[in-house]
Amino acid sequence: MEKRLKAVNHSLVGEIEVPGDKSISHRAVMFGSMAHGVTHVRHFLDGEDCMRTVKAFQAMGVSINKQGDELKIDGRGITNLKKPTEELDFGNSGTTARLMLGVLAGMKFNSTVYGDASLTKRPMDRVVNPLKKMGAKIDGAESGSYLPLTITGQPLIGIDYSLPVKSAQVKSAVLLAGLQAEGETIVRESNLTRNHTETMLQAFGASIKTEGLKTTVTNEKMLQGTDVYVPGDISSAAFFIVASAIVPGSKLTLKRVGLNHTRTGILDVIQKMGVRINILNEQMLGGESFGDIIVEAGELRSVTIEGDLIPRLIDEIPVLALLATQAEGTTVIKNAEELRVKETDRITAVTNVLNGLGASVEATADGMLIHGKTQLKGGKATSYNDHRIAMMSAIASLITEEDVIIDDISSIAISYPSFFEDLQRIK
Ligand code: S3P
Repeated sequence: MEKRLKAVNHSLVGEIEVPGDKSISHRAVMFGSMAHGVTHVRHFLDGEDCMRTVKAFQAMGVSINKQGDELKIDGRGITNLKKPTEELDFGNSGTTARLMLGVLAGMKFNSTVYGDASLTKRPMDRVVNPLKKMGAKIDGAESGSYLPLTITGQPLIGIDYSLPVKSAQVKSAVLLAGLQAEGETIVRESNLTRNHTETMLQAFGASIKTEGLKTTVTNEKMLQGTDVYVPGDISSAAFFIVASAIVPGSKLTLKRVGLNHTRTGILDVIQKMGVRINILNEQMLGGESFGDIIVEAGELRSVTIEGDLIPRLIDEIPVLALLATQAEGTTVIKNAEELRVKETDRITAVTNVLNGLGASVEATADGMLIHGKTQLKGGKATSYNDHRIAMMSAIASLITEEDVIIDDISSIAISYPSFFEDLQRIK
């Protein structure tokens, strides 16, 4: 579905509560289903990706009832999950695919999983390789590097594994297989990636221990259901944080946004760039902190985004690149080669879309050089069927001279179904 966004060019004021965090919503469904007893989830993200996870567990016999953004999950316990009634379709969802491989590897039954054209091109060997070291039997194209995959459930043994990629999905898959493995499973990281799996597993009663960059889990078949509140997704809030930062005179409040330290790289970067932010009403529930973020536009300067910061803002890089087009000087993004294997190659997509709108961006092997400040003109934008590219283009229309026409906005339903309603409210 094509969408034309009128150029706006006036300040934005108001309050938004963005939908629940995608990563936390997936995990709430998984752990609630694998636990014994009832789990209630509040402020669940009712987006296409998380619904793939819901459908996968329903196909394994778990009763999950959804009313608006609340879920009631009647957990069956890990060992009582049933052989799926059908092949599992993970759609566009990388998190469902990677984490579910960790869940399915140790089951007593066999399963087959597949996804859409984009997911079928994304690397699964990063998960399949460590799972095979644990004894898993997973078959598919190029030794199980790509979907579709067939998993022959096996008894697993714990491993001591150092992550070769900075990926929370890989870390989580190994830890979830570790819950079913004999002995200890240890995952070591070189950079801290999002830690929602570790935090939430603790809330469900697993024996999991994190010391610095090392996480250890032991066999735990008795997770206990609990209540989960899902804070607003900072990766969704990022679009409005940047909107407020690039439109002169704006002041937006984002309510109850997740502030887990492994996710707040964007806040560190925008403050360095000259954006004023204030955090109010900070609270903590289930080990996850959240609060209200107030963002005010200021004079923007360029910055370098690299190293440890990258996993703390990986999904926000497209919209941060848009922000950088409005900063004086050259913003350098490096060590972000992971962007090439997201829902699309986001280095190519961001470079093409922003240049098409009138920016000056150079793609590099592992990032981008963004030369600012440029007046964006507007015009056509391709979404590459990637939700974050489509939303970045929509936010660009707030500062373009002419309209922005996005070829297809349907992917936005992956992570932020109410995006255009929220955008309309603050315009
Ligand atoms: C996610 C981890 C990140 C992130 C993705 C969600 C998760 O991917 O980009 O949107 O929920 O664990 P990687 O682990 O591949 O970096």
